[in-house]
Amino acid sequence: MNISSPHLLTDLEGPPEIEKLVNSFYVKVRADETLGFIFDGIASVDWDAHLPKMYAFWEKVLFRTGSYTGNPLAIHARLLPLTEMGKPQFDRWLELFKQSVDELFCGPNAEHIKNCAADMANVIYSRLNNVPNPGTDPASLTAEQRARYAAYGRTAAV
Ligand code: HEM
Repeated sequence: MNISSPHLLTDLEGPPEIEKLVNSFYVKVRADETLGFIFDGIASVDWDAHLPKMYAFWEKVLFRTGSYTGNPLAIHARLLPLTEMGKPQFDRWLELFKQSVDELFCGPNAEHIKNCAADMANVIYSRLNNVPNPGTDPASLTAEQRARYAAYGRTAAV
């Protein structure tokens, strides 16, 4: 039996699932040729501090709870003089994030968190590199994103 078959997976329901997702994502990131050295070499991330921060970050994104306060754009801008933070890096980041979600969860929250990740990756990438946000092309939006942006009263990500 294929235990990762989507119909056997359940959705992200709260903080325990967020922790599971974040842990799994950073195992992949640290082993990745494109991204691993940025975290463990360039930034020398303190994982005991970073992981709880990321649990709180994603909890806030998905459930509007959790204690995250911070400025991700400024934090990533600090990396810019030290390493490439371009399209290949952001594409790989998003690929690993989506992979982590799809291996563990299935449902509306799973779809929503992948779309939020894509939106934020587009914003951070475009701001850091001073290029147009790739997510503002309406053709690149999923139906879920289109509905969400319509509810916000705007047509695309910032
Ligand atoms: C190329 C892609 C990315 C790389 C290489 C990267 C790398 C990093 C690193 C090294 C840190 C730790 C910095 C430190 O502690 O000094 C960090 C923090 C963080 N990253 Fe990323 N990141 C990427 C994309 C993203 C994206 C797309 C998001 C959001 C969806 C994100 C959200 C965060 C958050 C919330 C923090 C914590 C910021 C804080 O300390 O308040 N990252 N990232």
